[in-house]
Order: sequence, then C-alpha cells, then structure tokens
Amino acid sequence: MDNKIVLTGIKPTGTPHLGNYIGALKSLIKCAETNKTFVFIADLHALNLIKDASKIRQYSYEIAGMLIALGLNLENAVLFRQSDVNAVYQLSNLLMNVTPKGLMNRAHSYKAIVEKNTESGIDIDSGVNMGLYTYPVLMAADILLYNSDIVPVGADQKQHVEFARDIAGYFNNTYGEIFKMPEPVIGEDNGIIPGLDGRKMSKSYDNTIPLFAPENELKKKIMRIITDSKTPEEPKNPDESTIFQLYTHFANEAETAEFRKMFTDGGMGYGTAKTILFEKINSSLAKAREKYEYLMNNKAEIDTILQKGAEQASVVADKTIKHVKKVMLG
Ligand code: ADP
Ligand code: TRP
Repeated sequence: MDNKIVLTGIKPTGTPHLGNYIGALKSLIKCAETNKTFVFIADLHALNLIKDASKIRQYSYEIAGMLIALGLNLENAVLFRQSDVNAVYQLSNLLMNVTPKGLMNRAHSYKAIVEKNTESGIDIDSGVNMGLYTYPVLMAADILLYNSDIVPVGADQKQHVEFARDIAGYFNNTYGEIFKMPEPVIGEDNGIIPGLDGRKMSKSYDNTIPLFAPENELKKKIMRIITDSKTPEEPKNPDESTIFQLYTHFANEAETAEFRKMFTDGGMGYGTAKTILFEKINSSLAKAREKYEYLMNNKAEIDTILQKGAEQASVVADKTIKHVKKVMLG
C-alpha cells in the first residue's frame, strides 16, 4: 500500500498498554516508514466521555510521547492534535446536512446504549449526549478532510469508516465528486493480546501492562500474571499461557521456539518464565522508554512537534474546507 495517504486517530482515554502497542501502534509506525501518514490525537472524540481537561491533556501527551519515542518517522508522518485544526469543526458541522439521522441510529456504539436502556426500562436516550450520537460525523470529517486513502483501525471502528464512505457518497451525489472514498484496513492480525487475568488486555478490565511502565512496575505487573497451578516439573501448554503469548511479540523466531520447548518439556516454573518474559520486554523497550521519560519531562518538545503537525495538517484541511464551502454555499 505504498504511496497512499494513510490516516488514523487515537483517542486519549487512557494510558497506552501493550495491547495497544502490539495491536495498533506497531503497525502504524511501520506504515509511516513508507507512506504519507496523518496521525492525530482524537481529543475531540474523547470529549463525550471525559469531562476532565487535565486528563485529556495528560493522555494526549502520553500518546504523542509514545509515538515519538517509538520512532514514528516524522518526515512522512504528520502528528497533531485533532482540536488544533479548525477546519474539522467546520466540516463536521457541514456534513451534518447530508447525513441521514437513520445512519446514526444504526451505529453500534449508540445502539448498544439504546438496547441497555431499553432492558432497564428507562428512556432509550438516557445518558446519550449529542457528541456521542454524532461521533461518526466528526470521524467522517477527520477522514475526508485529508483525502485519506487508507484508514487503519481496530475491528470495532470499521463501521465508522464505512459510515465515512456513506457520508462521502451522499455528499458527492449531491455536490459532485469532491471526496475520495477511504478504505478501512483492519490492522495486521496479531490476535487478541491477553492481559494480566487472561482476558483481552483492556483498560476496561483493569488488567493492562502500560507500555512504558517504569522497570520496577513492569516487573511487578508481569509477576502478577495469572497462571494455572502446574508445578515447575510439569510440562505446560504455551498456547494457553499469557506469558508465552506476550513473549512471542518481542522475541525472534529462534528465541520463541526455545521458550516453547521450555514450556512443553517441563522443568521450568512460572516464576522463571515470568522473569524471562520481563527481561525480554524490558530490554526491547528500554531505549524507547528512556526517550519517552525524557519527553514527558520536557513536554515543550512534544508541543513543538504537535504544533508543527497542526500547521501542516491545516494546510491540507483548509484547502478542503474552502472547496466544500464553495460547492455548498457558493
Ligand atoms: P482498550 O480496550 O484498552 O479500551 P482501545 O479500544 O482504546 O483499548 O484500543 C485501541 C486500539 O488498540 C484498538 O482498536 C486495537 O486495535 C488495539 N488493541 C487494544 N487492546 C488490544 C488487545 N488486547 N489486543 C490487540 N489489540 C488491541
Ligand atoms: N474513533 C476512533 C477510536 O475510538 C478514533 C478516531 C477518531 C479515528 N477519528 C478517527 C480513527 C479517524 C480513524 C480515523 O479508536
């Protein structure tokens, strides 16, 4: 997919964890090596949920700091805060006029709330603000502003990208071929990364390992991974082990094969396996973590990068909005 315009947004609603890294950030960084990529912190999308500005700001720094520390290629990638590009508020508002209300009614996230409210016998729209209801329109504005070809997202966001295509279609039918059709790309399938308790690693389950946890915290977390009660001597099934699953994402093939054998042969206790996992993750991330810690203590450097990104993004976005206003308003 070289020479395509790639765009994705990351919502600042929590501290990024190993699941986010392996499931999304890693392939995004790889993709930015060869493609013009717009990556933004979707802080406007966080607003319907988080009402504490200091939290949105902190998570935004964490995400930006993380991407920079992991080596996001800033020659190809434009990294910015969504809220710093004025055109997005405008396009979102203008797109409301070609977006059928019924489309929003079909959004999975909205429907899930309606179903829950119905079961509880309360008003179907209880707890739903307009930010949540029109979330897909804002997301369509993000995608269409930058002429995106490819939108890498997690499976849960696929419907939103399809809505962006629908909205682009309604717009183009009314006003002519203005918008390009974006394609959702569901990231490289690295499977579901398990968390400390064996369920999907997710901030909603409070079972995460933060990507750049300080060394002692990383060790503590890894030591807390839940295992079965097999004795050190007993052979163990690596494919059912969170320890082994996590290891495969940091180790090379030979190391993975060797670790697998240590599981199946027996003779290795889970304590030892956890120490091996800790050492592997720790050494893989140490250099980037150092850079991350430096950036978090020097946030002005992150601000400079985000500011420059917002300026670059605005050049493209302003051109689009000017064109859109012209065709809609004359
Ligand atoms: P959380 O479940 O912690 O709220 P998000 O939904 O914010 O995580 O995740 C952002 C992206 O990170 C997802 O779209 C997905 O691609 C990736 N991701 C998150 N958790 C995992 C996981 N456990 N395994 C694989 N990918 C994940
Ligand atoms: N809604 C996405 C999420 O929750 C974040 C996002 C906002 C996004 N705008 C986008 C992703 C545009 C891709 C393209 O993860």
